[in-house]
Amino acid sequence: MIVCICNNISDREIRAAIDLGIDSMAELHRELGVGTCCGKCVSYAREVLHAHLDSK
Ligand code: FES
Repeated sequence: MIVCICNNISDREIRAAIDLGIDSMAELHRELGVGTCCGKCVSYAREVLHAHLDSK
């Protein structure tokens, strides 16, 4: 599912980035561009981030 419509970033891509070592919204922002446009995806992207980190 697409999380960040502005930048066409899916939950799968976010999880893959976390598996490669990303562990914060700041890094998702910097490395993938999540939330760099309208910002509406930020709260859901944060949920995906923390859920995946918690599942590790
Ligand atoms: Fe992510 Fe707009 S949906 S910045």
